[in-house]
Amino acid sequence: MRSEFLAFSPPFIGDEEIDEVVSTLRTPWISTGPKTQQFEEDFATYIGAPSALAVSSCTDAMLIALAALGVGKGDAVFAPTMTFAATINVIEHLGAEAILVDCDTATLNMNTVELARTIERTVEEGHLKPTVIMPVHYSGRPVDMAPVVDLAKRYSMAIVEDAAHALPATYADRLIGSPIEGVTWATAFSFYATKNLCTAEGGMLTGTPDLLEEAALWRLHGMSRDAWNRYGKGGSWYYEIVRPGFKCNMTDIQAAMGIHQLQKLNWFQENRKRVVDAYNSAFDGHPSLQTPAKDDEVSNSAWHLYPLRLQLDQFSIDRAAFIDQLTERNIGSSVHFIPIHFHPWFQKHYGLTESSFPVAEAQFHRLVSLPLHPALSDDDVKDVTDAVLEIAEVFSADSDSSSVEA
Ligand SMILES: Cc1ncc(COP(=O)(O)O)c(C=O)c1O
Repeated sequence: MRSEFLAFSPPFIGDEEIDEVVSTLRTPWISTGPKTQQFEEDFATYIGAPSALAVSSCTDAMLIALAALGVGKGDAVFAPTMTFAATINVIEHLGAEAILVDCDTATLNMNTVELARTIERTVEEGHLKPTVIMPVHYSGRPVDMAPVVDLAKRYSMAIVEDAAHALPATYADRLIGSPIEGVTWATAFSFYATKNLCTAEGGMLTGTPDLLEEAALWRLHGMSRDAWNRYGKGGSWYYEIVRPGFKCNMTDIQAAMGIHQLQKLNWFQENRKRVVDAYNSAFDGHPSLQTPAKDDEVSNSAWHLYPLRLQLDQFSIDRAAFIDQLTERNIGSSVHFIPIHFHPWFQKHYGLTESSFPVAEAQFHRLVSLPLHPALSDDDVKDVTDAVLEIAEVFSADSDSSSVEA
């Protein structure tokens, strides 16, 4: 057994990031300024987007995208229940109604047949205006976007992608975050400490140029001119508030990290893929374990997460006890996600119970996310696979685990 605890997803920070942060701290401007501008330009180029807007988090990227679309009271925004609270909270913050959708069993992404039914039902009921679809690319695996785009076109809705996990991911040879033809779109990325690209906290928004211009106002108090343009030489002290905006700009200290993380992103991905391949070869075909959906001709995952699913009828223990066993063997893990409709606030507010979305309910109880980050050595990966396989054997439904010292 390992002697040291294996963290689930620590950041991977090199000397380049540290040196750039330190040199930024020695300049006279550390808030949103030249480094942020460079990071935005580099990011837009990498993704193939017309431009990009750096913000303080993915949550805020989604918030300002929805605000820029004018989302508010009376609007219906469609989103999956299998997501983190941030996706749904921003809809609530703007006074709109989140309409939840169950997930697809294979990918755990939003089920697009259910999405179509849910939109139709909302239209028939007539109380709310269908305004936005928010696909969440769960674990980095792109949602099947073709039907989502068709629905957005048919009902004149916009698309705001939650791409917190999906950097870099491709759907039909298009990098997630690059233009979606024929609809108004925006894509929100996360640079939170555990994410594929990390700036400690941070996010980025790409999108239709008009939408991004409007979102830029919502990013900084609704001011007609940002601070860097006011305080620099030749800048003017004068500004106007043209929207009741938020305060969610990125600092140059964060951008200093982001610039270098972006340069390493392809290498990060190669190493994530190495780990995923090793997990798959250890677990594929095991009667007690289900590996995540594989990449195919249409979708290539960013592999932010490796959500393993337990065949619970093959175990004498439940998921919580399985995680305890991993912890005893010094292996970190997590669960993605506790579905939205399991949380007390959403249950009360939307009149939901745990069985309101049966697929998400059934899959949630089986999910364990294994450590996945570029710094995992082959020995680390073997420690994880050995631990998982050992737990599956010791606590198999056929064995008398009560007599086994784990
Ligand atoms: C699916 C999803 N969306 C949004 C977020 C929020 O990202 P941030 O912390 O950058 O706001 C997360 C964070 O983990 C997430 O997992």
